[in-house]
Amino acid sequence: MSDNTMIQKIQEAAAFISKETNIKPQIGLILGSGLGVLADLIEQPIVVDYSRIPHFPVSTVEGHAGELVVGTIQGKSVLIMKGRFHAYEGYGAETVSFPVRVMKELGVETLIVTNAAGGINESYQVGDLMVISDHLNLTYRNPLIGPNDNALGVRFPDMSEAYSKRLRKLAHDVAASQDFKLQEGVYVGLLGPNYETPAEIRMFRTLGGDSVGMSTVPEVIVARHAGIEVLGFSCISNMASGILDQPLSHAEVMETTEKVKPKFLKLVLGIIEAL
Ligand code: 6GU
Repeated sequence: MSDNTMIQKIQEAAAFISKETNIKPQIGLILGSGLGVLADLIEQPIVVDYSRIPHFPVSTVEGHAGELVVGTIQGKSVLIMKGRFHAYEGYGAETVSFPVRVMKELGVETLIVTNAAGGINESYQVGDLMVISDHLNLTYRNPLIGPNDNALGVRFPDMSEAYSKRLRKLAHDVAASQDFKLQEGVYVGLLGPNYETPAEIRMFRTLGGDSVGMSTVPEVIVARHAGIEVLGFSCISNMASGILDQPLSHAEVMETTEKVKPKFLKLVLGIIEAL
């Protein structure tokens, strides 16, 4: 997308959402597999199908819906993406992260992203929740490639605190008040769609990775470019390849996220309340 058309597209999408919802969201949420039910907690939700929003892509993966839900939770105005876009579906990184541009245009200041991820750190257990301290962008893609529009952000954005220290502390405090311990670690973002080989997982562990998945990184890069504060979580849905003597499956990922859902929802809800 060239600069001009990019800005136009962002504005057209944002204008459509504004007109439909009449709400200026403070908090944006991008929810991974199975966690879309958080949207059910919105008081008087307004639902907008992605297919109706100008220039919005449409998601294709099983278990990922395709709608925005806007309204208030705990007195805070929120915009929830139920279902996200992945590069492995064939979208470019700038398309995957386009909704974050639209969030910024709508006034979002804080982004909460969640994903289902494989555990690389051998001290983790299936079902653990991990607050993301940092990421390794191993997608070999970047949503900021191309001419930079200074109206959207700087050419060379700082990534020294991609995941807000302040919000991570808040997440730990909320988890403690709910009597559980959050893991904290580095998320390895890959293109997918295949799961990794055991050799790849050993390499990522050596490089400092704790969890691994196929999302989140492009959205976070764009959020930081746009000056949005980010909080990210991985639900450890399975151990990564080579750790346990068993194959990986999307079914296991969905099964674990389903089990952890109540705990995860309560945490995110507590954080929204505390923000
Ligand atoms: Cl082990 N790898 C990747 N790339 N994505 C995942 C996963 C593993 N587990 C859940 N999502």
